[in-house]
Amino acid sequence: MHVLLSAEQVCEGVQRLAREIDLYYGGRSLTIVGVLHGSIVLLADLIRHLNMPLRVGLLQARSYRGGATRPGELTVNRDLIPDVRGRDVLLIDDIYDTGRTLATLVEQLHALGANSVRSAVLLRKTGRREVELLPDHVAFEIPDVFVVGYGLDYCERYRNLPYVAALDTADVEGPVT
Ligand code: IMP
Ligand code: MG
Repeated sequence: MHVLLSAEQVCEGVQRLAREIDLYYGGRSLTIVGVLHGSIVLLADLIRHLNMPLRVGLLQARSYRGGATRPGELTVNRDLIPDVRGRDVLLIDDIYDTGRTLATLVEQLHALGANSVRSAVLLRKTGRREVELLPDHVAFEIPDVFVVGYGLDYCERYRNLPYVAALDTADVEGPVT
């Protein structure tokens, strides 16, 4: 495993993201919807840098199965989503990879009657996009490597790392105990 973004770099990136979001929305109230589980660390740090009145909601989307490092079918658990009718919604996710997760969720939130839906991610992997939709706010562009830390997991591990690290192929294929 090797560090791609140090804790300091991540912290600066999150502050940059928050300034961008603050500038875009001004003082308008916002409904932030975090995508479980990968967004939890970003969500917690980001909202502490935002200045508008905001509500926080969560939903669960899973596209990775076990040790797979390539996405499988997307399942969405919407039980937790707050009422978004007429609200400006900002989806928060850890990473935009193929874009399928965010594209699906943006569409579903529109269908639930949101006034507007935008998205913000910590990371965007280059060269992997499979959908039209791009994230509106991105802290860092990264190469096509499998990353962990700062909320991102491999088999539910490493979410607690304060930095973002690339998993080496040997780590990815080896057993996780
Ligand atoms: P997408 O739908 O392909 O954009 O995938 C987005 C989801 O896949 C994210 O919410 C992550 O949970 C997961 N994901 C994509 N790339 C990585 C990675 O490099 N490490 C950990 N999780 C990832
Ligand atoms: Mg995720």
